[in-house]
Amino acid sequence: MSDPRMNTFHRRLPGVVYGGDYNPEQWPREVWQEDVRLMRAAGVRLVSLGVFSWSVLEPADGRFDFSWLDEIMDLLWTNGIHVNLATPNAAPPPWLATDFPEILSVDRQGVRHAIGSRGHFCPSSPVYRDRSRRIATELAERYRKHPGLAMWHIGNEYHSDCFCDRCDDRFRAWLRQRYGTLDELNRRWGTTFWSQRYSDWSQVHLPQPVRGWVNPSRELDFSRFTSDNLLELVTQERDLLHAITPDVPVTTNFFGCRLTDSHRWAKELDVVAFDCYPDPGKPHSLAVAAFQYDLMRSLGNGRPWMLMEQAAGAVSQWKTNQVKQPGRMRLGSYQAVAHGSDAVMFFQWRASPQGQEKFHSAMLPHGGEKTRTWQEVKALGNELRAIDEVATAHTGAQVAIVWDWQNWWAVEGCAHPDNAFDYRDTVARHYRALWHSQVAVDVVTLDDDLSPYRVLVVPNQYLMTRRQSTAVRKFVEDGGHLVVSYFSGIVDEDDRIHEGGYPGALREIVGAHVQEFSPLPAEAAVPVQAPAEKAALSGFFATASVWQDDLETETARPLAVYRKGHLAGKAAVTEHELGRGRAVYIGTRLDDDALEALVQHVLDLAGVRPVHAAPRGVEVTERRTRTSAYLFLLNHRQDKATVTLDRSGTDLITGRRVEAGETLVLDAADVAVVRSSPATSLPSEPPSGDS
Ligand code: GLA
Ligand code: ZN
Repeated sequence: MSDPRMNTFHRRLPGVVYGGDYNPEQWPREVWQEDVRLMRAAGVRLVSLGVFSWSVLEPADGRFDFSWLDEIMDLLWTNGIHVNLATPNAAPPPWLATDFPEILSVDRQGVRHAIGSRGHFCPSSPVYRDRSRRIATELAERYRKHPGLAMWHIGNEYHSDCFCDRCDDRFRAWLRQRYGTLDELNRRWGTTFWSQRYSDWSQVHLPQPVRGWVNPSRELDFSRFTSDNLLELVTQERDLLHAITPDVPVTTNFFGCRLTDSHRWAKELDVVAFDCYPDPGKPHSLAVAAFQYDLMRSLGNGRPWMLMEQAAGAVSQWKTNQVKQPGRMRLGSYQAVAHGSDAVMFFQWRASPQGQEKFHSAMLPHGGEKTRTWQEVKALGNELRAIDEVATAHTGAQVAIVWDWQNWWAVEGCAHPDNAFDYRDTVARHYRALWHSQVAVDVVTLDDDLSPYRVLVVPNQYLMTRRQSTAVRKFVEDGGHLVVSYFSGIVDEDDRIHEGGYPGALREIVGAHVQEFSPLPAEAAVPVQAPAEKAALSGFFATASVWQDDLETETARPLAVYRKGHLAGKAAVTEHELGRGRAVYIGTRLDDDALEALVQHVLDLAGVRPVHAAPRGVEVTERRTRTSAYLFLLNHRQDKATVTLDRSGTDLITGRRVEAGETLVLDAADVAVVRSSPATSLPSEPPSGDS
């Protein structure tokens, strides 16, 4: 990540950036005039241009037509609007696929994709790579001096995996690089199982359909390869863009894709950008959004990131596409800023009249200026000016939760004790417990520096390297509080069991071992309670489902035990003191309330306090600069909520002075951003006597 480039960006575009994807090539020129007029009215300052315009910019191989782009770049700039210019590689034009069918991706069954949609490229195709780089170079050379060029947007939502022969070749080359010798590959993949031992590199392939299950280490490496192979497309374009326009930051938009390990990707970008589409029809989607936003901030080591796309209303890609109720788009936008975004951007500016996404909402709907959506979009764009000073402010957290792509790939592998396991859902449940506790959370991997944190929540980290288990041990011994849930510390980076009893990589840290995994039938619910003599969690009652570890405590003590079933009387949750810290191990899936109570217990023990006291359903975050603290209060509830302030300051949105002790009333879906001087309150400070 490069701060100088982002500093340049902030000088051009100070404050919270507002805008969206703009696709003027879909419209006649008269409409462009109306576009810029309305953009100005709504406070739009940055548009992502050209994301899907390859076929218009290059109608035939090597024949370019930039006339319309010249015109629109100038028109935007004359109106004070900057451009986040895309390299258009996400949708190769028909001529490219017709002239060079090899550029089309191939699915796992060996079927080559046809044209007519997007993302249909083979990431290994030399022709695709060459033509992508060529048009990126043309764009960069042409607009390098354009005053409106503020950022580069490489491709769009990379998610094109491919199983063609070229990818197969590259996969083999990637493996040779990783393992050096075939013997090493055989050892690391455990190929003596089911007689898979390779005697020549030519026998090694990407995981095509096999009879039954494919070797899980091979599948895991293919996931790693796919992420690396796609990332190479980004770094190649980034390098050429940096060479031509050294001051312009480069990004690509993430969307939580399973194929791309964003921890690795983020290190290669100047700023993290994210597309977020919380489903208004799903009860937990705002907690999921909060998690994703914390992840985006953490990917950039705490630096602000950009909400590159969201919907102004409904999307069109789901089965039922619910609208955002009045005020909820505004609230969701502030939520992103509350978690560290310095931008509020949409897909897209003007609703398309044709094509696959004509029913997707836009800042400017088909119905035009009279629509509720437009009114809300316009109002928000203007209102955001009041919080411009929040941009560049950071967030500090004492709690971290682990989210790890490598584990995602491995933990959902084949032939596990529980093959319905959903990593995303599991992490979301653990995060939700923290979200309801209203503490600030970073999202890390176990390779990150864990020393800033007092509490570390590790949901089902099946894949754990030796190095990671050493880091976790050090974290606990140095005084950290660890919460780790079942099926963690089971295998190493090769998907090989850590021997010596489960969880091999954590056994000494949790002070217990698992005799047997004992998954439960779908409907089963086993009551769990604190042992009578244990005061710490007295009153704790939970329902266990999905899974039970048959847990033998060694140096740990039970915090909660099963009350029924074949494991009645045995530990469901344990606690282990190690060094100056503590490890809490959860050997089952606890119901949401119990998980929250347990997490709260650990937060209390660790002395981590909420960012600010607030009723349930009011989200609280804080961003800070050296001179100011910005408290965000977001009322996600369907009714009014009151918050008694612990600080004096100014509500930036209303401009009103507020005093400590005053009760702030937030209407349903309303938000307040209170600026104070950091000295008035340090909610993330440890309790006295514990340092
Ligand atoms: C993604 C894409 C956009 C658009 C939206 C629709 O984020 O990047 O082009 O398809 O989804 O929600
Ligand atoms: Zn391919």
